[in-house]
Amino acid sequence: MTATAAKRRIGILIGSTRPGRKGAQVARWVQERAARRGDAEFEVIDLLDHPLPHLDEPLPALTGRYEHAHTRAWSETVARCDGFVMVTPEYNASIPGVLKNAVDYLHAEWTGKPVGFVSYGVRGGVHAVRQLRALCELLTMRAVAPQVSFFLHTDFKDRTTLEPGDEHATALDALLDHVVARTTDERPPTPTRREADEAAVRRSVDALAAAIRAKDLDGLRRRYATDAVSFDIDPPLQHVGIDAKLKNWANVFTYFKNPAYEVRDLTPTVADDLAYAHAFGRLSGTLADGTQVDGMWVRATLCFRRTDGEWLITHDHVSVPLDIRDGKGVVDLEP
Ligand SMILES: Cc1cc2nc3c(=O)[nH]c(=O)nc-3n(C[C@H](O)[C@H](O)[C@H](O)COP(=O)(O)O)c2cc1C
Repeated sequence: MTATAAKRRIGILIGSTRPGRKGAQVARWVQERAARRGDAEFEVIDLLDHPLPHLDEPLPALTGRYEHAHTRAWSETVARCDGFVMVTPEYNASIPGVLKNAVDYLHAEWTGKPVGFVSYGVRGGVHAVRQLRALCELLTMRAVAPQVSFFLHTDFKDRTTLEPGDEHATALDALLDHVVARTTDERPPTPTRREADEAAVRRSVDALAAAIRAKDLDGLRRRYATDAVSFDIDPPLQHVGIDAKLKNWANVFTYFKNPAYEVRDLTPTVADDLAYAHAFGRLSGTLADGTQVDGMWVRATLCFRRTDGEWLITHDHVSVPLDIRDGKGVVDLEP
């Protein structure tokens, strides 16, 4: 028996929720026409089944971290689709707020997927589609060119019941051809949640190095947890709390007119809200008297805790290897 590839799933999203909406009958027409095809499965997605409040997630959708059950349910519905037909009316020359809100809730669930538009309104809903197309493209969705537009006066009997002409069916077929075909295109990989977190840890270390170069103590304060414990390279044995850590940096800054800070081989590992990273670091630059110093490479281990969406350093450990014969630090090694 030959294995057959799983059919692609296309979500037909109804973009309006008001009582008496025409969106449901337009979506039904799309679904009935699509059901004649054998090349994909089609699922109507009704925002009435996902009563999302005005966006109430504390973290941006880009993080993929959702606090609320309604967001997770919405995420699962959108994530299981390989492409979309968005059915939208035009409200005040734009799309309904409920549709925009639903789009804003998510990010990776949309990216890279093909989307086509079916619109309706007094003038066919073309302004709404222009905006929705731009929104989808911003999310790096792949909007297809064929679209279907219904005019309230001519395509709805008594301005109430949809009566599509053959030209609409032809346009819908072309739209579906494009959406289904593009579901099998190579999609740019979307970062996993772990990759996104690791990138955020890297940005945090970049910000730390930038604050050192700028001798910016406030910027450094933002990188550490208030209860951070630092096993820094210079005495005492430990620096406990953010103020002790900053005192140490303030002391270093008195030596330098222009410090430079280089990080190499930064390797973060993230699990949930904790992360660690190891790297090599080198502080160099121009001393207060104008002397240029190359500094030395040190080994650094950084531990992070995610706090209010920011990766803060809770612990660091900086060292150089020892020559075990005389117990002296070896300061001339290169990574
Ligand atoms: C708040 C509101 C604003 C509207 N603004 C426009 C508009 O700017 N352009 C247009 O062509 N039709 C406009 N219409 C007409 C709608 O496109 C039409 O009523 C459509 O059926 C609404 O979709 P729905 O029935 O799925 O809610 C508007 C309707 C509403 C309710």
